[in-house]
Amino acid sequence: MKYPVIVLNFKCYLEALGENALRLSQMAERVAGETGVEIVVCPSTLDLEMVASKVRVPVFAQHVDPAPPGPYTGSIPAESLKLKGLAGSLLNHSEKRLLLQDISAAVARLRDNSLLSILCTGDQITSMAGAALQPDMIAVEPPELIGTGIAVSKAKPEIVKEAVEKVKKVNDKVHVLCGAGISGPEDVAAALRLGAEGVLLSSAYVKSKNPEKLLRDMAEAV
Ligand code: G3P
Repeated sequence: MKYPVIVLNFKCYLEALGENALRLSQMAERVAGETGVEIVVCPSTLDLEMVASKVRVPVFAQHVDPAPPGPYTGSIPAESLKLKGLAGSLLNHSEKRLLLQDISAAVARLRDNSLLSILCTGDQITSMAGAALQPDMIAVEPPELIGTGIAVSKAKPEIVKEAVEKVKKVNDKVHVLCGAGISGPEDVAAALRLGAEGVLLSSAYVKSKNPEKLLRDMAEAV
């Protein structure tokens, strides 16, 4: 993985399901190719295999379970992601929280399967606790700004700055990203100036009238 990175979480927005997931991922592939900026896509679970087989940007799941393969009905083990050619997974997103013990197991199981982890956190304490578990990345996202279009990097810069400082103190190998409300190139630039090594965004990209232009502008800001 190359930093700074732009991570696009498609969530389960209708605009990003099925063929739309492929269209949005192909745009990301074009922009990454043209600008040289690392761009990760996170389609919803049932679209992962199709997208991963058709684009060359890293594809991450939105969630992984801590359970190993075995009698765990409905679980998504890290091995399934590996078998589908994915590069990693988000985990503990504010819309899909996990217990600390499950985060610990899931991060370890991703690592054992040579998959990357992006641990989402909503506050500084969780970011620090999470850093001790050695995920590859921590994405700090204040839940109250998610989906608002009000960028964390502009509205609450202290959250980003502090997360970078505190996470690096615990484990300086963990890359810190930020997310929530990231909507334009200035929000990305502000995040990087605060020390973040990337951004995690969703609605601004998925719901944009011209997602490819928006992403190109963001990549140029990087
Ligand atoms: O995972 C990214 C996310 O929670 C932020 O969402 O819509 O504010 O970019 P959004």
